[in-house]
Amino acid sequence: MKEVVLSGIRSTGNLHLGNYFGALKNFVRMQDDYDCRFFIADLHALTTTPDPKLLHANVKNILAEYLAAGLNPEHATIFVQSDVPEISELYLLLNMHVGIGELMRTVSFKDKARKMLGISGGESDDDIEKQIIGTDSNKRVNAGLLTYPTLMAVDILIQKAHKVPVGKDQEQHLEMTRRFARRFNAFYGTDLFVEPTNFNFGSAPVKVPGLDGSGKMGKSEGNCLYLIDDEKTLRKKVMRAVTDEGPKVPNSPVSPTVENLFTLMELTSTPDTVQHFRDAYADCSIRYGDLKKQLAEDILKITLPIRERILEYQNDDALIARVVKQGAERARHYAAQTLAEAREVMGIKKFY
Ligand code: TYM
Repeated sequence: MKEVVLSGIRSTGNLHLGNYFGALKNFVRMQDDYDCRFFIADLHALTTTPDPKLLHANVKNILAEYLAAGLNPEHATIFVQSDVPEISELYLLLNMHVGIGELMRTVSFKDKARKMLGISGGESDDDIEKQIIGTDSNKRVNAGLLTYPTLMAVDILIQKAHKVPVGKDQEQHLEMTRRFARRFNAFYGTDLFVEPTNFNFGSAPVKVPGLDGSGKMGKSEGNCLYLIDDEKTLRKKVMRAVTDEGPKVPNSPVSPTVENLFTLMELTSTPDTVQHFRDAYADCSIRYGDLKKQLAEDILKITLPIRERILEYQNDDALIARVVKQGAERARHYAAQTLAEAREVMGIKKFY
């Protein structure tokens, strides 16, 4: 029996290179060798961007992007989270074993709560907690955001997944998933839930940087290179990347902003190309303009063919409907089994 792989991406907009190198590229590489189940986390999207006009279109976009990147619905199960209502029920049940404190200490919760409250940063955790409890209704931090890790744990546990290919930013959520699984199993004296691990073909999890010097590439950071970007837009974004004055003496340390460019280059260019620019940096002959031009070229080699296919799939409503219908049936089959087992061990039984 093949090991189960489960992963998902929130439907909050188009996919960027962080999503691609942190997750989607591995989805495609894994689909033939594992029992893969990949989904679109539309319920998770509601925690930050509940927009009824956009939600459905965003889900469709990502489905087109999954297919365009090379996911094959004959090999992998592709589904939409809200098509599997068993997830929502198990989410309620698992929440009974999750502490408010551990949820409030989650890094992603604190970051997003800060944004929702319009706090710039620098405040202590105590200050943030006081603001969360004391805020008026206009600036509330919703309970869905707090329990985001429970829902993510359920996505994984309900499919009994062994491997979860995700980027570095999701490691804490995975750690929580393992803790929740262990706790539930110990409390009920069962081995129902499997403890999952991150997977990146033996390499460390990826963190794709932004090109604005701010750290990670992310939608809320506004620094994304998107798979759907056309040639001109993408070149412009890369040429505008933040750098520095350049090395003045041989073998100088590389500044974080320039290291970001090298990191992206390592993901997209050949090892020879990377070495060429590393050497040029070391002997002070580097011209950042040349490096950026090469980087843009190499990124486009990856993204342009995907972009073309995205545009095709976006118009193929019939195919998309077929893929997610079949995916939902398969995903629900496994989810219903796990949910029934969880209800049983918890003592939820019917009288009729
Ligand atoms: P989301 O939508 O934020 O991100 C989707 C995937 O893209 C990866 N990623 C990155 N990887 C490297 N560098 C970056 N700059 C970067 N930005 C995003 C993320 O690590 C992730 O793998 N909570 C998940 C969605 C989710 C999920 C799940 C994932 C819900 N349930 C169950 C796995 C299993 C998330 O935030 O996705």
